[in-house]
Order: sequence, then structure tokens, then C-alpha cells
Amino acid sequence: METQKIPFLDLVAPSREHKSELTAVFDQALETAGFVGGPMLEDFERNFAKYCQTQHCIGVGSGTDAVRFALIAAGVKPGDVVVTVPNTFIATSEAITQSGAMPDFVDVDGRTHNMDPELLRRYLQVECSVDGTTGRVYNKKLGKPVTAVVPVHLYGQSADMDPIIDLAERFGLLVVEDACQAHGAEYFSKRQNRWLKAGSMGRAAAFSFYPGKNLGAFGEAGAVTTNDGDIARKIQMLRDHGQSRKYYHDMEGYNGRLDAIQAGILRIKLRYLAAGNERRRECASRYQELLGAAAERITLPFEPAWSKAVYHLYVVQVQNREQLQNHLGEAGIGTGIHYPIPLHLQKAYKNLGYSKGDFPVSEKAASQILSLPMFPGLTYAQQERIAQHVLEFVDAEANSGISAASPIVSLTSHGR
Ligand SMILES: Cc1ncc(COP(=O)(O)O)c(C=O)c1O
Repeated sequence: METQKIPFLDLVAPSREHKSELTAVFDQALETAGFVGGPMLEDFERNFAKYCQTQHCIGVGSGTDAVRFALIAAGVKPGDVVVTVPNTFIATSEAITQSGAMPDFVDVDGRTHNMDPELLRRYLQVECSVDGTTGRVYNKKLGKPVTAVVPVHLYGQSADMDPIIDLAERFGLLVVEDACQAHGAEYFSKRQNRWLKAGSMGRAAAFSFYPGKNLGAFGEAGAVTTNDGDIARKIQMLRDHGQSRKYYHDMEGYNGRLDAIQAGILRIKLRYLAAGNERRRECASRYQELLGAAAERITLPFEPAWSKAVYHLYVVQVQNREQLQNHLGEAGIGTGIHYPIPLHLQKAYKNLGYSKGDFPVSEKAASQILSLPMFPGLTYAQQERIAQHVLEFVDAEANSGISAASPIVSLTSHGR
């Protein structure tokens, strides 16, 4: 029906669908008083590690904890520089700062919105120098060692990992994946000649299970995946006040555990993740069919041949994004903007000294991107209605002489 609202995200329907299984988790916690640790947590960790094709999974309190713990456990030290992208949620860079390091940025590729490996190469070759005796890489301006890179698999699509890992090996950097939006995304690695799961490619990877994620808890939750046993053990300690066993604190840590109830919920929902991701991919192809004809006026998500994205978000680009958002809002269609201000222009990072123009691809994207409704239960009829309103808007804009979002290509970026 035309008047019915289409939400940006429907979190109620999937919980209703599996209500009895999910409420049984609360019964189990209530009957056993197993609120922290225990079999529900261990079972989820085992299953999520298997899903991600890694040897270890360590449940933690949030995705932010996961990035922070992964960096610390992998060996990032106070005073280091860790490179990521400006087009991400602030938790990525917060976690870098909270590990004692300083975030620095390279711009994204204009079509995938993820780290541009060519710009990472340029950053390492031009803005850094290698110490002849130690072999360590130093940022020339900052005079600090660059020790890690955090590619973000934004919107549910893997970053182009082969060239990033090549560069990391060449320059001695740790790779920590921010897979907080990419549960189940896959990347075809030419290095390994096979498809790899997001979360299995770096030294460690961080996941968020915030409720709106493809795998979402009933509150805050996160996890680190890794194939490195030492990193796994260190994270088990970091999440639990640095304890190696009860009240034996080998170091200071954090209160960063994953609740048993959340783990129990995640363990159930994990069974439906692959099917949900498949539905999202179908919804993305339908958008492609419905909106493809207007490709001159609206830029649709780009999925390279090496990627199987899981469409946590379906992000299009148009000029006059605010007007399109209002137009859809008036038709009862929910949308989002991920994210309106790139990190280097956030007030919180004034101290880093960046200004407008430093990362032009991220800046342009931030002004044009709009996330359309995307969730496994989105129906064909709903997508048709969304597409009809989008097309109505972009056609009217075209007729009034306003051109489409110019495709954003990768540009040479920055300078502090
Ligand atoms: C890319 C990215 N990194 C990190 C996080 C942090 O996760 P959390 O909100 O669970 O702390 C998020 C969450 O939205 C995210 O999208």
C-alpha cells in the first residue's frame, strides 16, 4: 500500500521469526545463572571462528573493544602511527587512539569506498622513510613509526586485501581488519588463488554485533578473530582485566567481556546469517535491475569481480543527496547517511591538522552518499516503490538541468 512506511532497517521481524529459540536463551541464563562466560559464550566463539575460517574467536564487549584489543594484542605500541581511512565510523580511529597510537589516513577508492591500495603505497613510499638500521617505517612529518594498517570492509564489502597485505609485508606493518560491517563478506585472493572470508586475512580482525549489523546481538557485543594463538590468549586477558586466572593479573586490561546472554543470542542468529546475507545480495541485484537504467543519474554500489559483498548497507551516490533523502522521507521511506563527515574533518580530530581537500575522494563521497533500505526481509514490492520514488527524483533533477553525481574516481590525495 502506497501509504505504508518502509523502514531503513527492520529489526523486529527477524527476532519474531525465531522468537522461541531466542527467548530460550534467557531461560537458560535464568536457570543456570550463567551470565558471564560459560558454554553459550564458548559455543558461539567456536562457531563464529568456523564461520570466519579462523582458528580463534574471542568474544568481547563491542566492536570498538574488538578493534582496540586486536591492535594492542597484535603489538601496536603507544607512540606508533596506525593508518586507516577517513571514510569509516569513528570507532575505527577511536580504537587506534585508545591503543596509544595515532591514527593517520589514506583516501578511499571512489568506486568501492574502501582503502585505495595505490594511495597506501604512495603514503608509505612518499610520506614515510625506512630507517636503514632497524628497517622500521617512519612518517617523515610526524617522526613516528608507522606500525599497522587497518583496512575497513565498509558497507559489507571487503577492501582490496592482496595489495594491502603485499605492502604490509614489504614495509613490516601489522594488518588488523575492521570487519565490523562485513560478517560473511568474501574476497578472492590472487595470492592464495581462493576466496577468503572477511576476518581471516589480517593478523587479527574486529567484528561488531551491534543490533543493526548483519549479525546483531540484543545489545552491545563484538569479537576478534585470528589465527594467532598468542594474540587470542592476550585478548582473552585484555577483555578480563589482564587476568591469566582468577585474580592473577599479568597486566592491566579492561572490562571488555561478551555477556553470555548476548553470546547465546548470537549463537542462534549465526545459523541464519548465511541465508540473510544471500537475501541481501538478492535485494542488491534487484536494486541494480530497478535503478540500473538511471545509471547516468545515480551511481550504484560497485562490486568488483574479486568481491562477494554482504550489503550491510546499500549506498548510492547522487547530487542533491539531502533533497533525495527528503523526497524519500516524504514518501515514508527511511534512509541513512554513512557517514556525513569524513574523520579527518571531524572536530574530534582537529588536533591532527587536516583540512578540507586533504582526502578529496572521501570528502566528495560524504556529500553524495545515501543508504537506501536494506535488510533480508525487504520485499520486491517495497523495492519497486523505493525505486519508483528514486527515479522520479533523479529524472526531475535531470530535466531541471542538474547533472548526476559525477563518478568519483581515485585521486591523488593529501598532504597534512
Ligand atoms: C566500521 C566500524 N568499525 C567499528 C565499529 C564499532 O563497533 P561497536 O559499535 O560495536 O563498538 C562499527 C560499528 O558501527 C563500525 O561500523
